[in-house]
Amino acid sequence: MPDRYAVIGHPIAHSKSPLIHGLFAQATGQDMVYEAIDGGAGPGGFGRALAAFCAAGGRGMNVTLPFKLEALAAADEASQDARLAGAANALRFEGGRVLAQNFDGIGLVRDIEHNLGLPLAGKRVLLLGAGGATRGALLPLARAGAARIVIANRTATKAEALARELAPHMGACSVAGGGPEAAGAGQAFDLVLNATSASLGGEAPAVPAAAFAPGALAYDMVYGKGLTPFLQLAQAAGCARIADGVGMLVEQAAEAFAWWRGVRPDTREVLQRLTVPLV
Ligand code: ATR
Repeated sequence: MPDRYAVIGHPIAHSKSPLIHGLFAQATGQDMVYEAIDGGAGPGGFGRALAAFCAAGGRGMNVTLPFKLEALAAADEASQDARLAGAANALRFEGGRVLAQNFDGIGLVRDIEHNLGLPLAGKRVLLLGAGGATRGALLPLARAGAARIVIANRTATKAEALARELAPHMGACSVAGGGPEAAGAGQAFDLVLNATSASLGGEAPAVPAAAFAPGALAYDMVYGKGLTPFLQLAQAAGCARIADGVGMLVEQAAEAFAWWRGVRPDTREVLQRLTVPLV
């Protein structure tokens, strides 16, 4: 019997995870199946689906919206990334215990450094937004050696609070948070990350043209949305290096796969297959 894995979310039909993990399994010769589970909109749906999957011998799960917080709460043991992100996106079931990880930030860093060729050591990073996506990215960016991170958010207090909370864990990386004006003040950044959900509503967060340093990379964490308003804004500001979050999606999946199976799949082919041109 092949080992069973799944992704759980609501809605889930759009998820690329079954395709990605199916391709990884094929490429690495792993005997496993990977399905999509809809946890439903009602209360308790996630817990019931998790219990049923474990009882049926499931080995691990990816978790997507809106269950990432519940997934962390359900864990017996969680990594520091998951705890500080306040959310889990991957679970492993082992001897009746639930282990939790969050690979979103690691996937982001890997995409930026390995796929897009921007080493993060010493870099100045502007993070737009102060929600879950920003929270998950902070620690991995600091670990990769970013020198300074500025969090600029529509609601300043959220960015300030997040910076204060995570600062003690960021090592040599300085972190500051504020309102949209935190992106200005004549500072320039080597990496400008859109971690807001503005793209989904066809909008762009406020960011001045001067925030993009010469040669900067503009990165939108959404994927499959083409040239988002944020990426258009970056281009209009003269930024020539732009990317969406497809690589982050594929790299976080590869991390989860490696955690479950002990073998890290090559991501290049899968990435090529999922990439939608930025036009
Ligand atoms: P996620 O978990 O995906 O990060 P979230 O926690 O709801 O989602 O956070 C969404 C982030 O996008 C927030 O920082 C939000 O700003 P507020 O804190 O002011 O709500 C930001 N956001 C959403 N729509 C935006 C828009 N149109 N312009 C600028 N920021 C936006």
